[in-house]
Amino acid sequence: MNKTLVVSYSEHGKAHEVARVEEQNLPPVGPTQVLIEVKLAMINPSDVNTLEGTYATLPPLPAVGGRESVGVVAEVGSAVKDLKVGQWVQPPQSLGAWRQAVVAEAAEVVPFPEGLSLEQAAMLSVNPATAYLMLSEFVKLNAGDFFIQNAANSGVGRCAIEIAKARGLKSINLVRREELIPELKALGADYVVLDDDNLRHKLKEITAGAPIKLALNTVGGDSSFRMSFALAPGGAMVTYGGMSKQPVRVGTGLLIFKDIQLRGFWVSRWYKKASREQVTQLWEELAVLARQGAFRVPIEKRYPLSEAKAALEHAQQSSRGGKIAFQL
Ligand SMILES: NC(=O)c1ccc[n+]([C@@H]2O[C@H](COP(=O)([O-])OP(=O)(O)OC[C@H]3O[C@@H](n4cnc5c(N)ncnc54)[C@H](OP(=O)(O)O)[C@@H]3O)[C@@H](O)[C@H]2O)c1
Repeated sequence: MNKTLVVSYSEHGKAHEVARVEEQNLPPVGPTQVLIEVKLAMINPSDVNTLEGTYATLPPLPAVGGRESVGVVAEVGSAVKDLKVGQWVQPPQSLGAWRQAVVAEAAEVVPFPEGLSLEQAAMLSVNPATAYLMLSEFVKLNAGDFFIQNAANSGVGRCAIEIAKARGLKSINLVRREELIPELKALGADYVVLDDDNLRHKLKEITAGAPIKLALNTVGGDSSFRMSFALAPGGAMVTYGGMSKQPVRVGTGLLIFKDIQLRGFWVSRWYKKASREQVTQLWEELAVLARQGAFRVPIEKRYPLSEAKAALEHAQQSSRGGKIAFQL
């Protein structure tokens, strides 16, 4: 294989307008490198923001889009000892995921744990990891403790529900569409309620006064304002996304009289600081749940790379029934 189809962009703008499908040359595999054939690559909101030029970190242009994918090692260089042909791996995210194949340094390639489906592997490194770390790193939660989250039907939200269920935490899940309630309950959500102005009243009934120590916020605006009132004194609201494109709002008095904590989380920062061993350990912990059936985030539609513009337009629609992916 000496050529690969990629979805690239050389300027920022509307994702489906700036994306183009092109063929690129693949270099020969060097002694410390591997050739990876990509099987499934995801389109996440942060990928769209990157093409738009609005994400926090932007690669130099031109670039290949996407971060998350799963590929199969197709060839290994003569000096590579710890990867073998046929192994499922994550290609380096910095090289862009929306491609048929990539030649990468073996040291930057992390193998997936065994026993995952292709879909679970393709979506392991971002959303399950984000949910897992946010439920672990900010507040000490014990079995029986409550936490609350908005956009609970999002990829991250679904993972948080499943991780919470496995740990015996009680999840309170806010959604903006009533039809999602049975689906999330079937996934293991303890409580699913509409994200509206009745929230305070509904929470009183759910918790009967028990404290909510953690709120996971990926919406901002009115939703974060409502959630902030749910927090117990000293509780933390961790913001990891801004889907409403509104600033995070919280009740002023809550900061003063309840000392609630406003924190942020970015999984890329975690990966940047983590050693290869820490990444492997996190993925192994996630894989235990995945093998039990967790992290089966629905995929609404799979596109070939050649239909990248349609795929990107689709990924930007709200009220989807699942993620959008490139199937290779
Ligand atoms: N900080 C990190 O490390 C990190 C890691 C992973 C993800 N994220 C961020 O987390 C967010 C969710 O990512 P994902 O992959 O889980 O997304 P996803 O599966 O595509 O789900 C998107 C979610 O956002 C909701 N939504 C869309 N537009 C909205 C709006 N205007 N107001 C309120 N809710 C809206 C959707 O609700 P409907 O279904 O009702 O449209 C859905 O629940 C993104 O902002 C992403 O960048 C951050």
